[in-house]
Amino acid sequence: MLRGATICGVGSYVPERVLTNTDLEEMVDTSDEWIVNHTGIKQRRIAAADQASSDLAIMAGQRALQDAAVRPEDLNLVIVNTLTPDMFFPATACLVQDALGATNAGAFDMSSGCTGFIYALAAGANFIRSNDYEYVLVISAETLSRIANWTDRSTCVLFGDGAGAAVLKPCPPGGGLLSYALDSHGEHGDLLILPGGGSRLRLTPQLIAEHKDCLEMEGHEIFKLAVRGIPQVAEVALDKAGVSASDVAAVVMHQANKRILDAAGQRLGIPNERIVCTVDKYGNTSAASVPLALDDIYRRGGLHPGDIVLFVGFGAGFTLGAAVVRWTLEPFTTNTPA
Ligand code: ACO
Repeated sequence: MLRGATICGVGSYVPERVLTNTDLEEMVDTSDEWIVNHTGIKQRRIAAADQASSDLAIMAGQRALQDAAVRPEDLNLVIVNTLTPDMFFPATACLVQDALGATNAGAFDMSSGCTGFIYALAAGANFIRSNDYEYVLVISAETLSRIANWTDRSTCVLFGDGAGAAVLKPCPPGGGLLSYALDSHGEHGDLLILPGGGSRLRLTPQLIAEHKDCLEMEGHEIFKLAVRGIPQVAEVALDKAGVSASDVAAVVMHQANKRILDAAGQRLGIPNERIVCTVDKYGNTSAASVPLALDDIYRRGGLHPGDIVLFVGFGAGFTLGAAVVRWTLEPFTTNTPA
C-alpha cells in the first residue's frame, strides 16, 4: 500500500498596506455598501511597490517551515502556484528555493488560477506517496494588484495580495491527503483572462492603454459556473475518500465571494459555521486564498487531529478542484515549537 502524505506545517503572509472599500470609493464609482452586499469584502491587502509574488511566497514559506520544524535544506521540492509570477522566467519557485536556502530541492511553478493550491497539494503529495521525496513545500502567492485594472469597478474591488504555504511529509496510509478531484473546462477559458503579454498578444503602448495587460472577467458567468461546479467536484472527492459531507469538520474554499461560500455550503448541506471565511479581510487572492484561509483556521486552533477537512477551489482555466484531508497536526498554539 502507498504511504500517505500529510500537511506538517502551515504559514501565510499578507502585505501591510490595507485598502478599504472607503478608499476604493475615492478611486472608482463604487460604494462600501455595494461591495459588502455583493461580495462580503470589506478590505484587502496590497503589496508594496518593491514586493513581488516571490517576496510574499518567501515569507509564507519561512513561516510554514518554522511551524513544521523542518530545515530548508531538508526540502526535496518547492512548488509555487501563481497567476502572477515575478516574471516569465526564471520560475518564481526557483527564486523562492534560493531565498529560503533550500539547497537540496528542485523547484517548479504551476498555474491553475484560484484552484492553484489544490492542484499543488495533489502534485506535491504524489511526489511523497511515490516514495521519491520526503519533504515538499507547496506555496501559492499572488500580487493581483499588479494585474488589476484600477479603472474597472467590476473587477478591481474584488482582488487582494497574499501568500500561503504548507509543508508536506510522509504519514501512514489513511492520514493526510485522502483524495482529490481536479477538473478543467478550457472551453470557458475566456471568462477570466489576462489577454496581453504572452506569446499570443505582444504588448504595445496602444494595448497597454487599452488595459490588455490587466485581468478581464465575466463575473456573473463565473459565479454561475462556481455555484454549480463546487458541489459536483466536492462530491467526487468526498466519494473517493469514502466520507460524506456530514463528516466534514471544516471547508476551506476559494475566497471569491461570500455569496458563493454560502450557496456552495447550502448545496453541500454543510452548515455555515464549518465554512472558513476570510474574504472580508483579504478579498479574492486567487491561488493564495485557500492556504490563507487554512492558516487562519489553523492558527485560531480550529483544526484537530482526525478532523476531515474539505478543500475546494475554482478559477481561471476554468479550473475546479477539491481535496479531502484527514488532519494530523495538533492545534496551533503560540507554544508550538519553532
Ligand atoms: N460598484 C458598484 N456597482 C457595480 C460594481 C461596483 N464595484 N461592479 C459592478 N457594478 C454594477 C454593474 O455595473 C451592474 O450595474 P447595471 O445593473 O446597471 O448594469 C450591477 O452592479 C450588477 O452587476 P453584476 O455583475 O450583475 O453583479 P453581481 O451581483 O453578479 O456581482 C461579482 C458581481 C461580484 C463580480 C460576482 O459576479 C462574482 O463574485 N463573480 C465571481 C467572480 C469570481 O469568483 N472569480 C473567481 C475567480 S478569480 C481568479 O481566478 C483570479
